[in-house]
Amino acid sequence: MAVVAIYNSKGGVGKSTFAVNLAWESAQQGYRTLLWELDEQGDSSWILSPDGRSCPTNANQFMLGSGKLLQQIHSSKFSGLSLLDGDPNIRSTENFLVAFSRQQQLSKLFAELEKKFDVILLDCPPGFSEANRKVMLFTHLVVVPVIPSPLAERGLNKIREFMILHRGHHPPILPVFSMVDRRRKMHKLALDENQDWPVINMASEIEQMTYRKLPIGEFAPASSNGLAFSRLWRGIERKLLDMVVLRTKPKDDGTPTTEPS
Ligand SMILES: Nc1ncnc2c1ncn2[C@@H]1O[C@H](COP(=O)(O)OP(=O)(O)O)[C@@H](O)[C@H]1O
Ligand SMILES: [Mg+2]
Repeated sequence: MAVVAIYNSKGGVGKSTFAVNLAWESAQQGYRTLLWELDEQGDSSWILSPDGRSCPTNANQFMLGSGKLLQQIHSSKFSGLSLLDGDPNIRSTENFLVAFSRQQQLSKLFAELEKKFDVILLDCPPGFSEANRKVMLFTHLVVVPVIPSPLAERGLNKIREFMILHRGHHPPILPVFSMVDRRRKMHKLALDENQDWPVINMASEIEQMTYRKLPIGEFAPASSNGLAFSRLWRGIERKLLDMVVLRTKPKDDGTPTTEPS
């Protein structure tokens, strides 16, 4: 099972947008996918839930342990894509993760998830919180949406330092430019400096996701961002396959083939 965190210490940079579209791409490829929203905003589940609104995780149940937490997982509108919604009381999520990890139970929880899922996407809250650091221990790849700016590199270094503090090294980090407007000089300069970073453009289709309540691949797959998210997922998938945390490519024969491990 592969765990991919969508993280930036800043808010409003495109984390939930990335989480929704990458989770959809993963499920489309036949991977049993869970989008776990650690952010209290509930933006991802609001777009993907069958009834179009998130069902906030019950904070009391959250505190009861992994069994209850697993029971909170529910289906999305899309086959192969499950959701664990954000808790409106972020303190309880924080406390839960920190306490869980201290008791070595977070690894038990991920072991349980491994029986059911091939890919877990974490929509992380912003900030350098203890809870973020704990889940990074179980993360194989960190995707960081970055708004182009001369401070982008500095922000990434802070993220690296934050993760290194806890375990001495950090999982591979994939920075991706987010909300790019090539007419802006600052954006052009940042893109020129980091030509190998993938790019998601500023585009009205992304804004439309919120009122259509759909991932971009459902209504504008041929748009520049529709294609960009599909390319981005393929790059991530390749990396996870190389790391041997993702073991099969289910779409090869049209059906999911990954066995629970
Ligand atoms: N590439 C983009 N083009 C246009 N609007 C975007 C783009 N990416 C995100 N947005 C919008 O910006 C806002 C913040 O994005 P969001 O994904 O919620 O960020 P975060 O989860 O980091 O707070 C949302 O209203 C979203 O629809
Ligand atoms: Mg968000």
